[in-house]
Formats: sequence, structure tokens, C-alpha cells
Amino acid sequence: MNPIQIKEGIYWVGGIDWNLRNFHGYLTQRGSSYNAYLIIDEKITLIDAVKAHLAPEMIKRISAIIDPSKIDNIVVNHVEMDHSGALPELMKLTPNATIYTSPKGEIGLREHYHADWSFRPVESGTMLNIGRRNLHFVLTPMVHWPDNMVAYLPEEKILFSNDAFGQHLASSERFDDEYPLDIIMLEARKYYANIVLPYSKQVQKALVGLQGLDIEIIANSHGIIWRKHVSDILAAYQSWASNETRKKALVVYDTMWHSTERMALAVQEAFNKHGYVTSLLSLQTNHISDIMTEVIDSEYICTGSPTLNGRMLPTMSAFLTYLTGLAPKDRKAIVFGSYGWGPKQIEEMAGMLNSSGFEVVTTEKLKYVPTEDQLEELTQRISDLISS
Ligand code: FEO
Repeated sequence: MNPIQIKEGIYWVGGIDWNLRNFHGYLTQRGSSYNAYLIIDEKITLIDAVKAHLAPEMIKRISAIIDPSKIDNIVVNHVEMDHSGALPELMKLTPNATIYTSPKGEIGLREHYHADWSFRPVESGTMLNIGRRNLHFVLTPMVHWPDNMVAYLPEEKILFSNDAFGQHLASSERFDDEYPLDIIMLEARKYYANIVLPYSKQVQKALVGLQGLDIEIIANSHGIIWRKHVSDILAAYQSWASNETRKKALVVYDTMWHSTERMALAVQEAFNKHGYVTSLLSLQTNHISDIMTEVIDSEYICTGSPTLNGRMLPTMSAFLTYLTGLAPKDRKAIVFGSYGWGPKQIEEMAGMLNSSGFEVVTTEKLKYVPTEDQLEELTQRISDLISS
């Protein structure tokens, strides 16, 4: 694929990772892309790069426009190696290019690549003149690492946002008016839930910092570029970063002999009676990163596991480790499960959720195989709690 012009003299020169299916634990069913951008001006400037294995692809795209040795400036908005991995190969071609990055970006790049490159650290408010255009930098720490920043090009009304507003999505289409919007939004939501969620406070701050910028294009570093639905993705980030929930309950469970599964159905039934949107999600058939996409707007997270060797099932342990690490705020939890001789898993699950800030509103355990009466009583108890 050739480079793609996003505005006159500004090109997408990134790489497409069609076969990526696992991004450190995040199931990326649609692959991903690492978007890099080349600005042709008096000072030729590259914004971000790609993963190491896609360096030849990026360099080929750059070479279709200019000789890569002519690159004067490289803006590194984020150190993580999906965006910086190609730098060692690129720097061999343009060793005198200056790298503009945040102070933490410089430290991070030195600690990753141990190379003697020319760095110029920038702060929020630093402006870099590249000819007839100027790049303005805004530091956005923790969206997604301490080093993150974004670059704004006012003459073209383009925000180079790096991880923010991205989606793990491989496609030959580059723009949001060329690809089904429901899929882009779903993948943006999954990306937020699995990557950005712990940093929602910092996102809110960053969104305030972006207020007042006239943005025509959000040139992110993963997936589809926003140009028609800029206000939609900004509004979605506002909502996700505010921890807004709706009348929705997730029932996430694993089961050995279907007793906990029957409890899961009884718990779900209580929420259905109260008009909640519900999802019943078995950990045997749903990936934890897909479940997180549902967590993002759920008021209740109900988790069920039977006992195995005095503990919760390992699938539940993995889910709770992942969930509590991503730290959704202001959520209620219900913990349930069947047991044989010791219901230790209930305490274990409730402990993890409580210590991570969830409000565990009840714990429910039933011995061996529950009767229909016990399940009806369970539904009633949960229903009473929802009404109270
Ligand atoms: Fe896409 Fe935090 O790297």
C-alpha cells in the first residue's frame, strides 16, 4: 500500500499489523495499525513510528515520498515500542535527525535504545516551527504512559493524538468516513476499556487541555483516522472518562458442574425483572478483554465461581486481576458461587473486589447442587437489594 495523503503535504506512512491477535493480553481480533505521519515542509518532520518488525514497511512508504535521510525532525509522542520500535532502523538512515519528545520521553527512549541520538525535550506550550507550519505540543502524562504527549498543527487543524482516540483495527481504509462507524466505535470503546480506563482522570485533564483547539482531523496512532466523527469520539471519551454507567448488569462466571451457572442465571433474572440490560458472560467462552468492553458502562459487575482447591477458579482469578488492574470506578459488585465443603472462594473474590474500590453489595453461596427453591430465593434476595 502506498502512503496516503491526509492533507496536502501530510502523509500517513504507518504500518498495518494484519495478523496481530494478542496485544499483551488484549485480544485483537481485527489486528491493528501503527500510524506514523510525514509532514513535508522546510523541515521534514515525522510524527511517531511503528513496531520494529514493520520498520521496512514504514521506510518504504516514506521512501515513496522522500529520501528518508532528508528527515530533519522526528516527534516521538510516546515511547512504547509499538510506536518507537522502528526508530533504530530509521535512525540508521537519518542519524542527524532531532528527536522531539517530552522530558520523560527522552529518558524512556534512552532506557529503551541506549543510543546516542539528538534529543530536544519539549513541554506543554513548546512550539516547533517547521517552515510554513508550527507544531504545538501538549504533554498528556499517563494517556497512556508517563511520557505521552500530543502534537497539534493549527495551520492544518490536525491533532496527532498517539494512543488517545485509537482502535486496534487493521484496514486498508484510513478514514472514519470509509469504514463502518459501528465497528470503529466498538473498537475505540474496547481500546479505551482495556488500555486507557485506569487513566480516566488524566484523560479528563487532557480533554480540558484540548478544549478550544479547532480540530478537523484526529490523526491517532492506531486504527482509523477521525475526520467526519471528531465530535463523536471526543464525546465518547468524555463519557468513558467520566465513569458514566447505565442501568446495566454483567454476570461473569465460570462453573464446574453447572451449579454456579444456575446461580448466574438466577442473579441475571433479578436484574431482568428490574429492567436492566444484562449480559451473561461465561469465562469459558468470552475473552476477558471483550468482557472489559462491556464493563465500561455497567452499574453492576456480578462474579461467580465455584471452589477449586480452596480457591476461586483460575479463570476467575485471571479476570479479577485484569478487571481490578484496569480499575473501573464507582461500580457495585455481587459475588456468588457454589461450594462443596469450604466456600473460601467467595471471601477471596469479595476481598479482591473490595480492596480495589468496588462496593460488594452481597455475597451468595449455595452448597453443591442448588434446588429450584434456593435459586428462586436467590433471585428474590438480589431483587430486593436492587429495589432498596
Ligand atoms: Fe500504542 Fe501505549 O502504545
